[in-house]
This record gives sequence, C-alpha cells and structure tokens, in this order.
Amino acid sequence: MRRTEALRGLVRETHLRPGQMIYPLFLVPGEAVRKPIRSMPGVFNLSIDEALKEARECAALGLGGLLLFGLPAEKDEQGSGAWAADGIVQQGLQAMKRDRALDGLAMIADVCLCEYTSHGHCGIVARDGEHAHVENDASLPLLARTAASLATAGADVVAPSDMMDGRVAAMRAALDVAGKPDTPILSYAAKFASAFYGPFREAADSAPQFGDRRSYQMDGANLREAMREIEQDLAEGADMLLMKPGMPYLDVIREARTRFDVPMGAYQVSGEYAMLHAAFERGWLEPERAMMESLVGLRRAGADFIVTYFAKDAARVLG
Ligand code: PBG
Repeated sequence: MRRTEALRGLVRETHLRPGQMIYPLFLVPGEAVRKPIRSMPGVFNLSIDEALKEARECAALGLGGLLLFGLPAEKDEQGSGAWAADGIVQQGLQAMKRDRALDGLAMIADVCLCEYTSHGHCGIVARDGEHAHVENDASLPLLARTAASLATAGADVVAPSDMMDGRVAAMRAALDVAGKPDTPILSYAAKFASAFYGPFREAADSAPQFGDRRSYQMDGANLREAMREIEQDLAEGADMLLMKPGMPYLDVIREARTRFDVPMGAYQVSGEYAMLHAAFERGWLEPERAMMESLVGLRRAGADFIVTYFAKDAARVLG
C-alpha cells in the first residue's frame, strides 16, 4: 500500500488543510512598518496597514484565522494598553473587520498583559521589599476587561494565554456584561513554562524583566496537572483548548484528545519554528518535508487546528 502516491493517499489517516491553520501577527504602532524578527525568518512586526496586506494574503491562501498580538507604544505597571479602547490590537481588529476580503478568517485575539506591562509579566506584580510576585487574583479583573475590550473591537474569539487561575470564569462574566455573550473563549489551558518561547519574546518585546514565568505557567514534567488545568478551564466556561508548546508535548495533546470532547488546537511555538529554520539555513533538514511532518505530527497527536508561523508556507505546499 506504500508503492505509489495514489495508494499512500488512499490509506492516509491524517490530513492537513489550510483552514486548520492559524497565523500569528504582531501589530505595532505606526505606518509602513515591517520590521523583521531576527530569530524568526519571514515573521515581522507589522503596522496595521502592513498587517492588512498580510491578512489578505492569509485569506487568499484559505487559512483558518489569525492570532493577534500587539506591542503598545508605551508600557506601564498594569498593562493598561491591553484594554485601551484604542489599543493597538483593538485598532487592528476594527480595521480588519472593515475589510470584506478577510471575512473568511477567524480573528482570534490573544489575551495577556505581558506585552503591555513594563515588567513583562502576564499579570500584575506586587512588590514586598526585595521580592516581587505576580498576583493571581488581582490580575483577573484586568484580564477580563482586556477580553471584553477585544471582543467589543471585533475579535471573533478571545484566547487567554496568561495562565492565571480563574481567568476563564472572569472573562466569561465580563464578556456577558459587555454584550458579547457569543464570543467563544479559546483557553491556553495547558501552557508550560517553556524555553521554546524565547524568540516570541523578541517578537512581542515581552521578556520578564525579573524572575521567570514558572510561578504561573506549568512545569513541563506534569501531565496529570495539565489535565486538571483543562478540567478547571472547561468548568469555568472555556469553549476550546489550546495546548502549547507542540512538539515537546505531543503526549499531552494526545491525552487531552482522549479525555475531552471539545475542539482543541496546538501551538507550534516560536522556538519550534526558529530551530527548524536554523537547521534549514544550514542545509541540515529539508525545509518542506520537515515543516509538513512537524505539522502533521500535531494533527496526528489530536489537534484539530494548529497555530503556526509556517501557516502560509504550509498552505502554499498544500495548494
Ligand atoms: C503571552 C504568550 C507567549 C506566547 C504566546 N502568548 C509568551 C510567553 O508566555 O512568554 C508564546 C508563543 C510563541 O512562543 O510562539 N503570554
């Protein structure tokens, strides 16, 4: 059954379509800005006018949607740029929603404070003398406000990536109050404290200025705990799950697929993209085959859709 491509195609178990891929965009203030991200070849910080061009290309390729991140003009302790009515992602959403050519794309807004806080943490920070820690409960109203603001600006889906406990319930309530009861929550339910987010923090200018994220993101050694995180988020009203990173956590994705009957995505994160590109540049891996294998692996593990910086390249291969 492996002799010809026709036979292999007939018995292939896992398929990847352009509509199953989500492409992340990093919006920045200004005009005509297209600033390359050093560690992520082909990925840029884009002003809204440039992002619209990129989005039209994604729509033409038949991608499923976009995941929007923003870099504000100014950061502060609370991350107020995240929920500003004229925040960078809010403006981007409004512009994209006006463009009918983008109707085929689901607009997903990442919800987190780390790109907006001066300290780079995903929630607000309390300082006690020499020590500082991220305050879970005090961060919830700010995250909820951010989700409501993004939905009001036009997000089809909000995707909390902050990993504070209780944020899904807080967001669900805030969305209802804001008159956005139909906005689904795609929860990064199992998000591990990972070294593979390194390049993203350059792209989003969101590296923590002190400490790390291990007090709120999960320990990479824990699968059972990941299942509890998912259970909690679903009980709080999450509609879909996002698992991340991808390749080092395929078993976690598989376990979640077996246990939970809800739509689930996997995020092939910046470090996965960067390491593959580094090998491509050296001629150590065949780009097209390695890219497609990495994506099909995530689908086979159980992901319904994939957030990936390869989305456009893979859609071109799929034709
Ligand atoms: C924000 C956020 C991060 C990523 C997605 N949302 C970074 C982090 O948690 O530090 C990483 C995505 C990637 O590496 O591509 N909290």
